[in-house]
Amino acid sequence: MSPSSAAARAAVRTEARSPEAGSPEIRASAPAGRTLGTAGRARLRREARRVLFGNWTGNSTVPSLGLYPHQWSWDSAFVAIGLRHLSPARAQRELETLLSAQWDDGRVPHIVFNPRVPLDAYFPGPDFWRTSTAGAGAGAPRTTETSGIVQPPVHALAAWLVHESDPAASRRRGFLARVAPRLAAWHRYLAAHRDLDGGGLASIVHPWESGMDNSPCWDGPLARVTPAPPDSFQRADLTHGAAADRPTDLDYGRYVRLSADYRDHGYRDADAPHSFAVEDPSFNALFAASGYALAGICRELGDEAGAREHSDHAAALTEALVRRLWSAEAGQFLCRDLRAAPESGRAGGRLMDVRSVAGLLPLIAPGLPGEITGALLRTVTGEHFGLGTEVRLVPSYDLEGPAFDPYRYWRGPAWFNVNWLLERGLRSCGETERADGLRADVLDAAVTSGFAEYLDPYSGAGRGTRDFSWTAALALDLLGRPDSGAAGEAEVQRGEFT
Ligand code: SER
Repeated sequence: MSPSSAAARAAVRTEARSPEAGSPEIRASAPAGRTLGTAGRARLRREARRVLFGNWTGNSTVPSLGLYPHQWSWDSAFVAIGLRHLSPARAQRELETLLSAQWDDGRVPHIVFNPRVPLDAYFPGPDFWRTSTAGAGAGAPRTTETSGIVQPPVHALAAWLVHESDPAASRRRGFLARVAPRLAAWHRYLAAHRDLDGGGLASIVHPWESGMDNSPCWDGPLARVTPAPPDSFQRADLTHGAAADRPTDLDYGRYVRLSADYRDHGYRDADAPHSFAVEDPSFNALFAASGYALAGICRELGDEAGAREHSDHAAALTEALVRRLWSAEAGQFLCRDLRAAPESGRAGGRLMDVRSVAGLLPLIAPGLPGEITGALLRTVTGEHFGLGTEVRLVPSYDLEGPAFDPYRYWRGPAWFNVNWLLERGLRSCGETERADGLRADVLDAAVTSGFAEYLDPYSGAGRGTRDFSWTAALALDLLGRPDSGAAGEAEVQRGEFT
């Protein structure tokens, strides 16, 4: 279903919210623990463990056994954050498996392919990306096949949280000492190769790099991309997911074109046309939060110069986020389309007037000016995102927006990783009650939806696939984390590593 008019959207809301439709009543935030009693919490822990151990392949975790049968980059970071509560050693392995497929130029690929999985189980697979040959000049691994694009850099944050879950064992195993150089190379790749406009932010060059594949933010930039012919590829995702929950065929044609163009230029950023180039606030906010975490890792290892480098860079990213992507009129951050005609007197490209939840995620970046934090908090709870009034979990896109669709992937549904990040952002801003309420609602939704990939934000009904790894992992994390957080974690949230 794709409601295309205001009337149709209103009808969707009414239907989704009516008690006859069996929808849970929408309510304001509840305190932590009120929704799930002791038995509910025990059930959640048991079920989350079943999902995470069931999706474990021996070295890493698949996001979902059917739909995503390989290792995905930002999924693995979120999975490690939950796995640390079950097995810190396994959480370390998760991240180290991903980082072992890092390219020589520092990029961490968005997929690491499992050679035991049949080629037709996922599209685009290793025979499409062909990184060991096409990416050789950019430093792709020779013996492991990966994709050639990236995903948001959540990994240093995940590594720090994994370390914190058992610092003694982490030190004994030399975990941080092994991952720190790889994490630093990853951050340097983004800073050196992806600041396409020279303004201090990393750009994404494919919608998949945002992790929010079919966000309405990409409609404008993608309209300039000629889609690959529909008969030139065969999607595999529709075997495992309802077509109404997934991106369209036209979206896929454009995804394929962009990936093929990058591949055919050897995955070299200096040579590739990058006809899609966007500065995404969520990607850069995660880059900043991970920069502070990497500074903490360096400090733990006694590397003061490294700590300074990464925390200075994180502060510069936060400053650039505000300078290039903040919109006081919208009360949120917006994406900058670098290939659009520039606004007069402004830096390259153009801010896009599209409200996605990506524009709220800078709440997790320490050091934002107070008036911006205040405006973001008003936007999260206002009519566009409706937290605590219209909806229990924050949707991926503007509830009032023309492209809103409660079912279709990143065009409206509420996602668990996004809400986990927002819970963290709210807590770091001192919004404890709201953070507690969101936490309770995320836990409730995770268990009642069978660890759904995402939810219809109005009805709370699960959409996409089930037994989704990061849903289980992040619920487990919210269940296991003390409200106040460990001292080190509080420091990461405030960026106090310098
Ligand atoms: N999320 C994308 C997919 O659906 C690409 O990583 O496969």
